[in-house]
Amino acid sequence: MEKFNKSIPYMKHKITEDDINLVINVLKGDYITQGPMVVRVEEEMSKVANKKYGVMCSNGTAALHLVAEMLNQRSSVLKKNIITTPFTFVADGNFGRYIDAEIRFADIDLKTWTINPSSIESLIDENTVAVVAPHYGGLMCDMVRIKEICDSNSIFLVEDACHAPTATINEQVAGSFGDASTFSFHATKHIGAGEGGVICTNSEEDSEVLQVLRSHGLPHWSKRTGYGYDIDNIAFNYRPNELSAALATSHISRIENLVATRKEIAKEYDNNLDWNFYSKQEIPDGYTHVYHLYPILVPDWSLRDKLLNYLKDANIFGQIHYPPMNKMKGFQKYKSDTPVSDDISSRVVSIPMFVQINDGEKLFVIEKLNNFAKSI
Ligand SMILES: Cc1ncc(COP(=O)(O)O)c(C=O)c1O
Repeated sequence: MEKFNKSIPYMKHKITEDDINLVINVLKGDYITQGPMVVRVEEEMSKVANKKYGVMCSNGTAALHLVAEMLNQRSSVLKKNIITTPFTFVADGNFGRYIDAEIRFADIDLKTWTINPSSIESLIDENTVAVVAPHYGGLMCDMVRIKEICDSNSIFLVEDACHAPTATINEQVAGSFGDASTFSFHATKHIGAGEGGVICTNSEEDSEVLQVLRSHGLPHWSKRTGYGYDIDNIAFNYRPNELSAALATSHISRIENLVATRKEIAKEYDNNLDWNFYSKQEIPDGYTHVYHLYPILVPDWSLRDKLLNYLKDANIFGQIHYPPMNKMKGFQKYKSDTPVSDDISSRVVSIPMFVQINDGEKLFVIEKLNNFAKSI
């Protein structure tokens, strides 16, 4: 097998001179844990998500945990449940486990591979405390319908926008639909600060509660009267730091370019891969895709490992987004009737998608994928 001269991963972070200079400035300054850079990220991300407030925290999982615990402390429901899909990162399922809620798995749509609103609707009951709706790969779920369903049932909507900053549905941006929306700054994401996350909301009250939960339950600065403090509810240390915040601001300032480059890479795959063999997400009218991932399907599950190994032999490293959460040890006790998710999850492969992929790497990936298709 012809190998590329160096490995081509499915993702790679990119750090620029500007990123480095910003971090150096932070290191020379007065703050390394939460400080002014964090406030800047919060302001900038609230603009990205078209919300009033942003609360930065240590990562996207912490963002989900903070929202879960906020709802938990507010809820008087004894046997809570939450609704999400198995075709997402495990943090969305853990949202339920963090607060001892049953997880109800909704199926995904056959064409978009995002959570199916009708399936959500069929799982709601009076004990549902939240719907956690994750965008997938860079394509948003049908947030218009999902928001209608949540509003009409008075259910808190968590929009997990980790994969889709700046994606839109009819020009309404990702992060703007949920009662709370969460983002991740993990190295693999558009805003790749290493680690980091943010929650965006229009509720001043929620933003204050989230800030308190983020830092041990210490009273919000605006409510402090003396030097001591009193702690009530359980809380965490999910504070972010200035170094990640500096990297995040730098990436946010060039997010349009980062997304445009990903779209160009996607176009080359769109135009050159063998679509008689592979298939991909369909983008509904009015939606934009921002390509956190470029996932494709092989026609049969039995070919998936074969393809991953074939690529690996050529020095190309694909990835599975996502293994089915409902089949995982920790989640098998929750009921799920999700045939579409089960099927897509068994056939999906993420192929290389990162902004600095060069022409030679792209051509090689396309050639190998098409050769594999021919060989079957
Ligand atoms: C959909 C989704 N939600 C949440 C997270 C959690 O983010 P983090 O890795 O920053 O904890 C991820 C991260 O991969 C994700 O893909």
